[in-house]
This record gives sequence, structure tokens and C-alpha cells, in this order.
Amino acid sequence: MALIRASLPSVRHAAAILRNGGVVAFPTETVYGLGAIALDARAVARIFEIKQRPEFDPLIVHVADEKMLARIARGVSAEARALMERFWPGPLTLVFERQPEVPLIVTAGLPTVAVRMPSHPVARQLLRETGAPIAAPSANRFGGLSPTRAQHVEQMLGARVDCILDDGVAPLGIESTILQLEPVATLLRPGALAVEEIEAVIGPVLRETKDDSTAPLAPGRLPQHYAPQTPLRIVDVERVPPERRAVAACLAFSAAPQGYAATRVLSPAADLGEAAAHLFESLHELDALGLERIDAQPLPERGLGLAVMDRLRKASA
Ligand code: TXA
Ligand code: MG
Repeated sequence: MALIRASLPSVRHAAAILRNGGVVAFPTETVYGLGAIALDARAVARIFEIKQRPEFDPLIVHVADEKMLARIARGVSAEARALMERFWPGPLTLVFERQPEVPLIVTAGLPTVAVRMPSHPVARQLLRETGAPIAAPSANRFGGLSPTRAQHVEQMLGARVDCILDDGVAPLGIESTILQLEPVATLLRPGALAVEEIEAVIGPVLRETKDDSTAPLAPGRLPQHYAPQTPLRIVDVERVPPERRAVAACLAFSAAPQGYAATRVLSPAADLGEAAAHLFESLHELDALGLERIDAQPLPERGLGLAVMDRLRKASA
């Protein structure tokens, strides 16, 4: 399916496809999502097929408003309310108790459901026109790089998707932050909202444990994920000898080292938010060059640097 430029008529067309049990790729402020109506188990099953995603990996459900939230989730605590007031719509996903109406394929059999209210105008319009919550993982092949442009979706999933809405580059460029509040506030996946900002509202948040061994609570937690085709490693690039640089690409933080076959600088101003926004974009570009390796320079693990390092570690696993 070819891309369609997002506009009111094309979003209405996409909403009609969703209501008929179809699967639509659409932009959000974080990355492009691959959506189906969350209450339609057969449509959701197609998402798993198209992505070749294992069924133990649950999906995030997107809502337009509190009424939609109430259809799929219950037990919204005061803490959750405070976070929603401050950060919704936006890149924060919260884990709630699921309503029985939510098909088990969406939650991979869990008694909980992960929900977010996106801020991207096209995502919001699509939710309103569809009139139902939309389950949507990132629109990439399972384990691959997340798509920050409609063209990435077309290259990876193209023919199998019923419609791809194109609205240019996804502005934040990295997935939402996933937070579980019960029994204690726990960060399940660092993302586009810094955990420090969450802590300013609700106090200390537990960082996920490094134990990725069991069926993943949050699958972005699987050790290998977000991976380019080109082998990637995290290294002190200044110590890589010149002959090893000549055959590789470099993903640098704020300054380009000499001698690499290709280099992308994530943020010349050393801004961690800008670096996060350019991460997948730069990885898609470097991966396309087909060089021997990608050498990624480590970033400070505060603010959005935490999410960037999480993705780089998983890409290098
Ligand atoms: O920014 C985003 O969150 C993007 C856009 C499209 O909204 N979506 C996204 O979805 O990143 P995905 O499927 O790539 O990652 C969803 C993550 C998975 O790691 C999943 O396991 C976790 O959310 N998740 C879903 N339901 C959960 C639940 N009930 N409990 C814990 N984690 C859950
Ligand atoms: Mg994903």
C-alpha cells in the first residue's frame, strides 16, 4: 500500500479501514504506530502477523479522551490522575487494570493494559474519527529499528498494511516512557518523557531491574531489540584505531571523530532531547550504507540519555 499524505479526507478513509477490521500505520509524536481497533481481536491478530511479533508481547492502546480510557481500563489511582493531568496528551504510557472487554491478545493474557493518549494531531484525529481505542505497537518488523518516517514503514512492512498515513518525521523520535504504578511506581521502559520529570510529580520511581530473563513485563525489555542489520557496538570511539574506523560508521554524540567512513552527530549542542529525537533517524541512515559496523559513542544516562542508552544497549545485544 502506498503512502497517503495525512489530511482530513485521508484520515477519514483510514478510520473507515479501521472500523472494517483493517490495519493502518499512522504518525504519533514518538514514532509511527501500526494500529487496529483494540476491541477487535481479529484485527489485532493481523498486527502480530504483519510485525511477526510474538504473542507474549502486549500492545499499547491509544485513547483520545477519558471516556475511551474508561472503556478499557479501571482502577485509575490518584497518582495516575496526577500524571495524566500533567503529561497527557503526550509520550507517557501508564499500566492499568484491564476491562474485561479488552481482548486477551492485546494484553498477551496479562490482567493489565498499557494506555497512552498521544498528542500528535494526526493520531488524535484518527482516534476521534474512528471513535474507538486503537492498539498500536511501533510500525516496524519485530526487533528492528523503530520508524520515525512513513517511508521506514513502507520499506519494512509496505504491502501488508492497508494504509500508511504520512505526516513527515515523528518529532520526538523515540518511544513513550512506560510506567507501572502498582504496587510501586516502576519504570518499565525509559522513553521520550524523562523519569526525572515523572519523579517531580509522584516522587521516587524504581528503575527496571536488569533481569530480562523471564517473559517480559515490557518487551521493549527483551535483551535484543531495536536492532539495525549492521552490527552495532557501544565504544569509546576516540580509542578506535584509524584502520578500524575506515570500514565503519560512527554514531557520535556531539562531535564527529576523524576517519570514519560515515558519521552522524546526534546533537552538536550536546542536548540529550535532540539526541533522542535523532537516534532512530540516524541509525536508519547509517544502516542503509551497509558498512562493517556501527560504533556508537555512549551518552550520559540522565534525562533522555537514559532512553537513548537503553535503545543502544538493546541494539548491540
Ligand atoms: O511511543 C510508543 O509507545 C509507540 C507509539 C506507536 O505509541 N508504541 C510502542 O509500542 O512503542 P511497542 O509495542 O513497540 O512497545 C510497547 C511496549 C512493549 O514493550 C510492551 O510489552 C509494553 O509496551 N506493554 C504493553 N502492555 C503492557 C502491560 N500490560 N504491562 C507491561 N508492559 C506492557
Ligand atoms: Mg516497538
